[in-house]
Amino acid sequence: MLPDLFAFERRRTDLGPEAAILGGFALDQADMLLEQVEHLSRLAPFRHMQTPGGRHMSVAMLNAGSLGWISDPSGYRYTPIDPQTGLAWPPIPPLFMELASRVAQAMGFSAFVPDACLINRYAPGTRLSLHQDRDEQDHNAPIVSVSLGLPATFLWGGLQRNDPTARYRLTHGDVAVWGGPSRLVFHGITALKEGMHPLTGALRYNLTFRKVR
Ligand code: SIN
Ligand code: FE2
Repeated sequence: MLPDLFAFERRRTDLGPEAAILGGFALDQADMLLEQVEHLSRLAPFRHMQTPGGRHMSVAMLNAGSLGWISDPSGYRYTPIDPQTGLAWPPIPPLFMELASRVAQAMGFSAFVPDACLINRYAPGTRLSLHQDRDEQDHNAPIVSVSLGLPATFLWGGLQRNDPTARYRLTHGDVAVWGGPSRLVFHGITALKEGMHPLTGALRYNLTFRKVR
């Protein structure tokens, strides 16, 4: 039988202009993606970064790529060095690069070569409050976001912080993409519900691919 090349079209949920959830797009590779996350976390451990306000984020994070997103008391920014290890962030695995590029292509974006991959880890109760991804210099490239493990509720707002938000369920293998006029839309994740996933246990992981420079 021929592979169903357009299966993702049927599982596509539009969020707005040039923004969508591609249901199950990464499902086939999910176990390999998780193996890579495990490997990366031995090179750059997950950590709860401090916010500029001095609190610790409930999401645990690490980065891969030539640049990594960090938060500390002096603010949010991208750095080539992991402040915790003093070493460069590990490179983005080829499997990740290939997936990010296929997603962008499926959405009609031009060639997408991310230089940063932020990996978030959520435990039950962990949330990510409404924010824009705006620390990147390049706002032409989309954000590609891959969900693994426990399901989450994605908040999708507008270009103003107080615009109304819609809620979407993100499950294992789903990919959300936003670019073009939606690139700076406010988004977030509500407090993760308790659960047990066969591959990740009581956790959810999210990979976001960004082009910073
Ligand atoms: C993010 O906004 O950086 C991550 C969103 C998610 O965890 O799905
Ligand atoms: Fe974000």
